[in-house]
Amino acid sequence: MIQLFHVSKNFGPSIALNTIDIKIAKGEFVFVTGPSGAGKTTLLRLIFGAEKPATGHILINAINLNRISRSKLDLLRRKIGFVFQDFKLLPKKTVFENVAIALEVTGFRPKVVKKKTHQTLRLVGLAEKEKAYPLSLSGGEQQRVAIARAIVKDPLILLADEPTGNLDPDLTREIMTLFKNIHQRGTTVVIATHSRQLLEGTDCRTIVLNQGNISGDTR
Ligand SMILES: Nc1ncnc2c1ncn2[C@@H]1O[C@H](COP(=O)(O)OP(=O)(O)O)[C@@H](O)[C@H]1O
Ligand SMILES: [Mg+2]
Repeated sequence: MIQLFHVSKNFGPSIALNTIDIKIAKGEFVFVTGPSGAGKTTLLRLIFGAEKPATGHILINAINLNRISRSKLDLLRRKIGFVFQDFKLLPKKTVFENVAIALEVTGFRPKVVKKKTHQTLRLVGLAEKEKAYPLSLSGGEQQRVAIARAIVKDPLILLADEPTGNLDPDLTREIMTLFKNIHQRGTTVVIATHSRQLLEGTDCRTIVLNQGNISGDTR
């Protein structure tokens, strides 16, 4: 499902990823961890096709991202949900609109958009807040809107960058439960995190990055 072959990425002289190979199978639940600057965000952005590797290649569902046209990449991205570290919610749109937009851009009928958006907001526990604006919500609620927007289109792959970044332990547990539920529906989940709490006692596969190199993989 996700395959990286000898992938490197640098930003000028700074090497973010140094010739790494990773295979993630369909339906896996994987943590990517490591200290700040290790290359976690870069790895997710490469998988999403938001960055191009300097060397090597990346296959998503057997499609080579180096060879794909812009329009095919857009189609592929519809199957990938991305929870951004800074949420990227639209402040002038309601919670409902922020989630519905992920379906509207892919051409779903308004009736379907409404139904799926309501369903997903219920799933993340925000049904009561659908008319609220993001800035009136707590950090945890904003995080859940970002997750709802990423999962509303039933993605094959869910990528999440530090999804519990600033949340307290209770909310962190809640968000984790949510990811486990999404995983149980068949989605491949990849979470970049440096949170000890998230990783504590987990039996999920954990890939450790250090200065752009893979220094551990529990698989
Ligand atoms: N857009 C960018 N421009 C310049 N340097 C970058 C950029 N993105 C990442 N880097 C550098 O690449 C390295 C890996 O960063 P990143 O992938 O954000 O790590 P992490 O998410 O593990 O903290 C760091 O040294 C960082 O400074
Ligand atoms: Mg990061």
